[in-house]
Amino acid sequence: MAEKIQVVLSGGVLTVTISRPDKKNAITNDMYGVLADAVAKANEEAGIRALLIQADGDSFTAGNDVSEFAAQAKGDGPKERHVGRFLRALADATVPIIAAVQGKAVGVGATMLLHCDYVLLSEDAQLITPFVNLALVPEAASSYLLPLRIGHVRAFEMFALGLPVSAQAAVAWGIANRTVSAAELRTEARNIAEQIATRPSGSLIAMKRLMRDAEKLIALIDAESAVFAERLVSAEAKEAFAAFAEKRQPNFGNPRR
Ligand code: COA
Repeated sequence: MAEKIQVVLSGGVLTVTISRPDKKNAITNDMYGVLADAVAKANEEAGIRALLIQADGDSFTAGNDVSEFAAQAKGDGPKERHVGRFLRALADATVPIIAAVQGKAVGVGATMLLHCDYVLLSEDAQLITPFVNLALVPEAASSYLLPLRIGHVRAFEMFALGLPVSAQAAVAWGIANRTVSAAELRTEARNIAEQIATRPSGSLIAMKRLMRDAEKLIALIDAESAVFAERLVSAEAKEAFAAFAEKRQPNFGNPRR
């Protein structure tokens, strides 16, 4: 499983590459485990001065593996779930985090960016938060961070309609720093990470602590995750997971269908 997340340390930058391109980099529980370990390592080891998150293939990530959601809804989920550990580690991180995003960043692929400190998008990037399409609720403290970042009405539109937000809009709204061509994305992200890695790390850590209230974010992640767990076993969510597996539109019994 480890090969679906590659973790490489070089020049003080820990680079984490999500690599499951045949499934649009959908993230499984095992992959969350490796991601959580990598963020914790970056946070703990003094020699690591920046964390760079990137992904192989044409999409950053399609978010949580939907077949695993379906299994959890049936009570067949893993004994130990790693997603919470990953999200809490991100919220608690004091190491600077840089993200390089191409193609679609769906669900947690979009919400994890709210915990990153420098977000570089390729011109074709699209951020999508379609929790509602799976009858779920937002996670990763995004129910708080997204409206805070872009305003309530834009956040509501992203959450309630689940429509893609273009890279250009994401930059204009303050979710990302800037766009580059797909060809330049990795080199430019590495460049930024290396620049950050040359800065005094004690100062960066102290600055990040001042800029973010990790305790509050972790409390929000836990509160969202309790609601998420309730939604996961709802009849609506089960219908959404079945529809995804059967490659059809879900039928939520809406009067206007
Ligand atoms: N979980 C599990 N498998 C996924 C997945 C996910 N989140 N997203 C994509 N895949 C799989 C597809 O089932 C398909 O597998 P197959 O080739 O065995 O049939 C493969 O990845 C390619 O996906 P496809 O839908 O054909 O690619 P696309 O380019 O047409 O669309 C997405 C890409 C990401 C827009 C679309 O796959 C999608 O909407 N995925 C679900 C996203 C989602 O709801 N995530 C959870 C958010 S909370």
